[in-house]
Amino acid sequence: MNNPSDTSAWKALLAHSKEFKQHDFRLSELFQGSNNRFDSFSLRHENLLLDYSRNYLNDETKRLLVDLANQRQLPEAIAAMFTGAAINNSEQRAALHVALREPVESSEHSEVIDTLARMEKFVGRVQAGSWTGFSGNRITDIVNIGIGGSALGPALVTDALSGFATGHVKLHFVSNIDPSHITTTLLDLQPESTLFIIASKSFSTLETQQNAVAARRWFLGKDEDKKPTRNHFLAITENSAAATNFGINPENIFPLWDWIGGRYSLWSAIGLPIALAIGMDNFRQLLAGAHAMDRHFKSASLESNMPVMMALITVWYRGFFDCHSSAVVPYSQGLKLLPAYLQQLYMESLGKSVDVSGAAVSIGTGEVLWGGVGSDGQHSYFQLLHQGSDFIPVDFIAFATANLADAEAQHRALLAKCFSQSLALMAGETDPESPHKNIAGNKPSNTLLLNALTPYNLGSLIALFEHKVYVQSVIWNINAFDQWGVELGKRLSRVVFDAFENAGEPSGLDDSTTSLIKQVREWNC
Ligand code: F6P
Repeated sequence: MNNPSDTSAWKALLAHSKEFKQHDFRLSELFQGSNNRFDSFSLRHENLLLDYSRNYLNDETKRLLVDLANQRQLPEAIAAMFTGAAINNSEQRAALHVALREPVESSEHSEVIDTLARMEKFVGRVQAGSWTGFSGNRITDIVNIGIGGSALGPALVTDALSGFATGHVKLHFVSNIDPSHITTTLLDLQPESTLFIIASKSFSTLETQQNAVAARRWFLGKDEDKKPTRNHFLAITENSAAATNFGINPENIFPLWDWIGGRYSLWSAIGLPIALAIGMDNFRQLLAGAHAMDRHFKSASLESNMPVMMALITVWYRGFFDCHSSAVVPYSQGLKLLPAYLQQLYMESLGKSVDVSGAAVSIGTGEVLWGGVGSDGQHSYFQLLHQGSDFIPVDFIAFATANLADAEAQHRALLAKCFSQSLALMAGETDPESPHKNIAGNKPSNTLLLNALTPYNLGSLIALFEHKVYVQSVIWNINAFDQWGVELGKRLSRVVFDAFENAGEPSGLDDSTTSLIKQVREWNC
């Protein structure tokens, strides 16, 4: 049955949802009695604990959600991912990011093994100082030029694992076509000790192309013909012809493959900045953590499966509680880039309005994902979470141990902030004197608690979110691995760019765009 709302489980969930919409429903009352709710509504996998007890769920809900997953053939879909079936059906491609973290001894993908070996050799040469620039200097600064999946993952992981940095090089990330991004990044760098990584699966993304040209112009400076670029420009791409045409030495091109989506690619050579920052051993630990989550996803029963249960809770709220957004709030400064990374992972994967057959969907699909670090969020958007009019579930993320020495007491204060927010969202508080002070409560949340922020655990956490997204796409019968919606904007940006560049009156554009272009010209005169 292709339309999820036609399944008997969906119909049963619709009826069942009324139980949680009664005016006297109190989420906190689900904890009453001797049912020790936490044990029944939490899951553990290695160093991760998922506490999903503060949700609109009882045993019947769980049973019906698992029924829905089975009626949507989720076990078969999970198997299909791992066997390399064309689950990216609109492009007739596999989505085999799990192959990128398969251990060497069991991998069936020699190209992945070979690329990891090339990465290891390159990282070793940069760290040893045997990869030198044109003046014989060692490389001290690496500038990754890329956007979306060619930047967000490496930037997140490099930042989160800064405590594991080997210190050999400093990493910089340039993504925005706004020239101030690359200009300010290069301000304090020296051409002789800077290496650029042009990260672009297509090698045709306008932002990355423009920044790559700007980088080369900066590098060559005035004495263009005297500076060999060979050891200062690498490319990571599926389009090696375009990279060679740009002037990258073919030996400095690391491959990507069409069975790896951009937002699922940090485990590939796109992760080279990560390996350069934290070393290849730690990069392999990241891969191992993701692989551990892959094994869990592939083998655990549906109701014991962490990504499956997280996804089913989202499907429950999206489909039956008029939920249009959810927030991810890591109580960890190291994960401050996680919401931005997840925005692409969630919304570029699930922002679809036709199903895999091309028919319009009849149910709500991808939600708006937003968030930011805690505890800062408590001093900006938490007011809306506590007293706003919308139903917005929250995923809290925290680490049991501080990643700094002698910070345990303040780290416990951070954890107290995190746990108390989840409690306050659930419990609320009634003020009989003033309705302005009433806090409704009944706001659901998950808490993901990990023992420590390590490469292994971060790999498991990110893989958890990747598989959560895939499960939701299966339940909703949509393709999580294409992104046709971004193509029109790309094409129109070239049309408008040409209109700017052509001296005459802009033609063939709507009145708004034409007027905006003319105003820019007037103010630039
Ligand atoms: O946003 C569209 C998109 O194609 C993403 O899917 C991708 O991660 C990003 O642009 C960059 O694409 P590329 O790696 O081909 O430059």
